[in-house]
This record gives sequence, C-alpha cells and structure tokens, in this order.
Amino acid sequence: MLTIPPVIGHRGAKDFAPENTLASLREARYQGATWVEVDVKLTSDGRPILMHDDGLDRTTDGTGPVADRSLDEIRRLDAGRWFSASFAGERVPTLEECLDLVLTLGLGINLEIKPCPGRARETAETALAVAGRLWPADRPPPLVSSFSVEALEAAMHVRPDWPRGYLTGGLPRNWRETAERLDAATVNIDHRKETPASVRAIRETGRPVLAFTVNEGARARELIGWGVTGVFSDRPAELLSALAR
Ligand code: G3P
Ligand code: MG
Repeated sequence: MLTIPPVIGHRGAKDFAPENTLASLREARYQGATWVEVDVKLTSDGRPILMHDDGLDRTTDGTGPVADRSLDEIRRLDAGRWFSASFAGERVPTLEECLDLVLTLGLGINLEIKPCPGRARETAETALAVAGRLWPADRPPPLVSSFSVEALEAAMHVRPDWPRGYLTGGLPRNWRETAERLDAATVNIDHRKETPASVRAIRETGRPVLAFTVNEGARARELIGWGVTGVFSDRPAELLSALAR
C-alpha cells in the first residue's frame, strides 16, 4: 500500500540547503518531512547520481554536460558552495549514498528519473538496478516518477512491483491512456495547471494526485481541499505547519 504524506521535501529541502545533496536530505528530515523527492541521472560512465540539470554549472563548481563527465570527475566538484559558504565541500551524491541515508533517516522517497537527452531507458534501468539491490524488501518501495514516458516504461519492465508516478506539467489529452498503460500509481502534476475539475478527474481513475512545487501554505491547503494527496515543497517545515493549522 502506498502511503503518501501531505508534504514531500523537494530535492531535499531546496530552499534551505543545496538541492539534491545529502545535506539537503538531512535538512528535510530535520524539518519534519517524512518523504523526500530527488532527481536521478547518469554520469558518462553510467553511474546514477543526484542532479537536476543536464549541465553542471548551476549546482556545482564544474561546467558542461553531466553526461560528459565520469563519476570520478563529478565527485571532485563542490556541490554546496554555490548555495552558501557553510555548505562548501558538499559533494554530488551517488544514488547509493542517497538511499543509504534515506534508509538510516527512516524516510520514504520519490526517485524522479531525470535522464539526460537520449538516456531515458538506460537511466531508469540503471537507477532501479542500483536501488533494487539496496532497498530492503520490508520497507515500502520508492515511488518512481519521470516526465519521460520512455523511462517509466523501462521502470515498469524492470521493477513492475515498484509504484510509478506519471509526472506531467499539465494533463495532455491522452493522459488517461498513458496513466493506464504505465499502470501509474499516482499522477504528479504542476500545481499551477491544476483545477478542482482536473484533480477530480484524476482521482476518479483511482489515483492519488501529487502537486509540484508548492511553497505557500494557503495554496497547499487549497490543493488538499480539492483532493490533492501531497505537495512537493522546497520548504517542508513551513508547509507542514501551515497544514497543521
Ligand atoms: O517531481 C516533482 C518535481 O521535482 C518535478 O519538477 O523540475 O523540480 O524536477 P522538477
Ligand atoms: Mg524533481
């Protein structure tokens, strides 16, 4: 059974620590989040790491495409100083390190497969092979989501037993067929494109709706009032306290 909390830490706690780092996961837990979302892509030598962008420039002191750099090269980069000097020395985590920490902290996780161009299938297959080796059978499995339908198809093939989140900016016309074909457990959509009617339509298919990225308590309350199950937030503590009021 998939039990999703009302607030999921987005890239950890993105507004308080450098996104997709171990420090950000710890911060999300510290803020009271019980689930986190991270973005997973591959290095040039096929190792899954946490990284949102296709390029290294914004979130590390490196430059150029992630897909052109080996894990060894990426591990030498600083992934914290861009955010603040107090995070200097933070590294780009491997997926293994991320999952080890998540298990230690007792968190649930949404693995967003974020492939670099042309690597959708490979990214999903590798990430799930690595995660599948590490993840204990007695813990609720990760929710595996992606904007890439190809990645979700690959995920369905290699880990049919792990739930999939159909991630989409706005609902395309054929969303029902796609959600059916992927046997999606959830539909994760951009909250700015949601309406009470769209949330109702998704829920009528039996799927919980998750909304990204929500950083205002009033908006989270509104969405949950419409029937949204959970929101991804860069500010988990603030959202949790707004929802508790
Ligand atoms: O998975 C929800 C959200 O993370 C999707 O958008 O660009 O922040 O990865 P993005
Ligand atoms: Mg993401």
